[in-house]
Parts: sequence; structure tokens; C-alpha cells
Amino acid sequence: MSEDVGSWQRVAAAEDVPEGEILALRLGERQVALYNVEGRIYATDNVCTHAYALLSDGWLDGTVVECPLHGGQFDVTTGEALSSPCERALSTFPTRVAEGQVEILLPSGAG
Ligand code: FES
Repeated sequence: MSEDVGSWQRVAAAEDVPEGEILALRLGERQVALYNVEGRIYATDNVCTHAYALLSDGWLDGTVVECPLHGGQFDVTTGEALSSPCERALSTFPTRVAEGQVEILLPSGAG
């Protein structure tokens, strides 16, 4: 049995992330954003990789989140940086919904 893959943690009720919305979470030291894209939940780091801004204060359009500070964009399904000034991808986390609760797989040592 490997501990390296991390562990699933319940982080929110699925109904707390309505379709098209972003929910900010603080999990220990880590800030995570949950996104509901057409009923599927995705999770990334909430802090922009360009400077310090919370993506949960930005805008979600389909699978793209736009940072509120300088307008950089990321694909929330992959974390990929899509537009300037963002160049580094966001960390992403696997998600699942069980019994109406959102769970995310956090790497070992997270939080
Ligand atoms: S802080 Fe997000 S684009 Fe600059």
C-alpha cells in the first residue's frame, strides 16, 4: 500500500457549487477553488500563478476561469495557462462526488 497518492477528503456539499460557479476552500495552508462546469466538478489551486489573486474572485466561462487581477485565463479542467500574463499552469486535483459531497484527492503532505 502506497501513501504517496494522497487521500480523498470531503470538502463541500455538491449543492454549494452550483453550475457555472466557483467555490473557494481553505484546506490547511492550501487554497483550492472548486468549479462546476455543466455539472462536473473540477478543482485547482485558487491562487493565480502570475501574482497574488484568488481565481474564485474571477469569472468562470465554460471551462475557462479568468483572473480578476490582470485577466489571465486558465483551463480549469487541465490547469493550463491559456493567456498572457499567465504562463505557469495551475495545480489540479482529481475530484469525485459521493453521497452529495464533493471529495478531492490531495497529494500527501498537502494542507
Ligand atoms: S494575478 Fe492573475 S493574471 Fe495577474
